[in-house]
Amino acid sequence: MIIVQISDMHCADAEQFLRGKLTRAINEINALNPDLVIVAGDLTDHGFKTEFEEAKRFIDQIRCRQKIITLGNHDSQYTGYMLFEELFGASSGMLDTPECRVIYVNTARPDRDEGRVGRDQIKFIEENFSKDKFNILVMHHHLIPVPDTGLEAAIVEDAGDVLKTLSKLSPDLVLSGHRHRPWSWKLNDINFLFSGAVSTIRLRGFFENSYNVIRIDSGEIKPQVKIVGGTFTDFDKLILKQ
Ligand SMILES: [Fe+2]
Ligand SMILES: [Fe+2]
Repeated sequence: MIIVQISDMHCADAEQFLRGKLTRAINEINALNPDLVIVAGDLTDHGFKTEFEEAKRFIDQIRCRQKIITLGNHDSQYTGYMLFEELFGASSGMLDTPECRVIYVNTARPDRDEGRVGRDQIKFIEENFSKDKFNILVMHHHLIPVPDTGLEAAIVEDAGDVLKTLSKLSPDLVLSGHRHRPWSWKLNDINFLFSGAVSTIRLRGFFENSYNVIRIDSGEIKPQVKIVGGTFTDFDKLILKQ
């Protein structure tokens, strides 16, 4: 099974938004013929209507069997969360593939950079966790600080409570974007993967636009960073390089 995790497109009528990179990334993703593509938030830079419409035009070009799109803090500015729902549907929910149960939650709140999962969504995660499938949790904001991103800011405010629940449930993968820096942590046997920014100049720590390609074979997870227009890099090499 091939899963592609992209985030932080930051569509905007501005030079910081790199349309050419996004077009190239989508062509590469389509060539991979993925089973599932997860767009993990910050589709837009300000949550404006024209930005969402452009984001939709790009996302509609992604060819895959199943697609998940969730909301980022930038998308929820200027009541963009209303436009998001109109164009993409609910920003939280659950999706089953033959192998996986994917639960995605909305961590973004209007006009706030910090994330929050909240008690209701923690309960939603607990109640919908699969007993026999590969469990993947998706949220825009990061639950654990990511290195090389400056001082910690805009993390999930109730990360402690969420991590306590996750330690009990032990999901196979937790996928986030938001920090614009690809990274991987393993905590209490849970794999946390963070995607870099796919199409904005606002990069941190890793100065290439990228997305993640995750291959799952017989329960074994093989995640790689794919540089847009460049090479694949294993996450363990990415960490060792630092
Ligand atoms: Fe972002
Ligand atoms: Fe973000």
